[in-house]
Amino acid sequence: MATQERKAVVAVTDGGGRGSVIVEAYLKSPHVEKVLVFPGNDMMAEERSDRVALFPGIKTSDVDQIIALSKENGVTHIDICQDNAVQAGVSDAAFLHGIKVIGPTSVAGRIEWDKEYARRLGDTAEIPQPDWVAFSTIREAEGWLDKMPERKMFVKATGLAEGKGSIRASNKQEALDAIKRLKKEHPMASERFLIEKALVGEESSTFAVSDGTNFIVVGSAQDHKHEKDGDKGDMTGGMGAVSNPLLMRDVVLQEGTESNISKMLAAKREEGNPYRGWIFHGGMAIPIGNDRLKQFLLEWNARLGDPEAQVILPGLNIDLLELGDAIVDGDISGLDIRNDGKVRVVVAVASRGYPRSYKAVRNKEVKSLPELRRLDGINIYGAGIKMEESKHYIAGGRLFYIMTEEIDVLEAREKLSVVLEIVEGMDGENVRFRTDIGWRDVERLRQKSLQ
Ligand code: GLY
Repeated sequence: MATQERKAVVAVTDGGGRGSVIVEAYLKSPHVEKVLVFPGNDMMAEERSDRVALFPGIKTSDVDQIIALSKENGVTHIDICQDNAVQAGVSDAAFLHGIKVIGPTSVAGRIEWDKEYARRLGDTAEIPQPDWVAFSTIREAEGWLDKMPERKMFVKATGLAEGKGSIRASNKQEALDAIKRLKKEHPMASERFLIEKALVGEESSTFAVSDGTNFIVVGSAQDHKHEKDGDKGDMTGGMGAVSNPLLMRDVVLQEGTESNISKMLAAKREEGNPYRGWIFHGGMAIPIGNDRLKQFLLEWNARLGDPEAQVILPGLNIDLLELGDAIVDGDISGLDIRNDGKVRVVVAVASRGYPRSYKAVRNKEVKSLPELRRLDGINIYGAGIKMEESKHYIAGGRLFYIMTEEIDVLEAREKLSVVLEIVEGMDGENVRFRTDIGWRDVERLRQKSLQ
């Protein structure tokens, strides 16, 4: 239990919407006095600057600065929630300085920052995953592609590439173009690259938490990465998500996901690098005949997902600090983490032009936010917003997230659409958002009503 005499001061390494919901969750804990955020965003501190300290300009991978500032400010706990913070070893350094760490060590988190390693681990642990090969040079890949000319595939950087390290290809030429693009845009991350067989199925994101031995699955969601309705256009960091999706009510998929997580954790223990912290299982449900599905592993993330965190965390009955202390103490088995089972839908309101250039709207005022703040029954999570004298200005790609929660996806979307009308009316010329988040579940419910 976290009930120490002294109240906790928690540091969080994030600046986006996921960071906003994590900060909010820590602020709800009676054990937490203050939250520091590296780098944070202005809306995190809006109306609560006494309890939230922002450190703009500090990179989430800047181990030395994060540790120095944490020590200077009496940080007791640090939550490592960004992929590059995991890789850089913020966790390892914080541990050496006596700060309690919520998040894996760098070697434990390698399941995310080295995708070739993760695939090897998956093969050894017999986790169902796509067929894959790894190369360093275009020439090596060319020889292999000559023998596999017309195969649908993904070309992936093995390292971290800000979510842009995976490109779809349908033939040799497209694959070679993808490799060239990755090597140009993300040279470090794609020193080695994977070519994976494309799986055809439906994706899901599941969160679990582990103390290295035990694990608890806390919820699932589906995110929407394309920029436009109907899953069209370019990929983004995520335009919205829906929690408790109907797909993941399938017991076989739940068991498959748990089995994958259990195998990964056992493999990490065997390796001598037990995994402690949040786990993100990116799954792909593949039809295998007779209406049956099988869960494949697409990817691991060594952290919570964005924007999935915005729909999963608010539905959990946990005190985030008590959970953090249980992870640090190495025993989460006594925790009773429950998911309220509601459906939450979150939509990202992004700058017009995102995911490409949004220079034309940078620094424009977002006028709808004060109005939205006054509405009951919705949650707003800030991201790329700069605040000056209580006004909100465009400073990034994804600006803020609106989340509604209801008993089913239809009601949650209904509520959301009223709110989005306000955004469109007041800021439509400067922002964009999707209107069909959760469409798969809407379609499933429609099909069911026709039966
Ligand atoms: N939504 C996927 C991720 O956070 O990587």
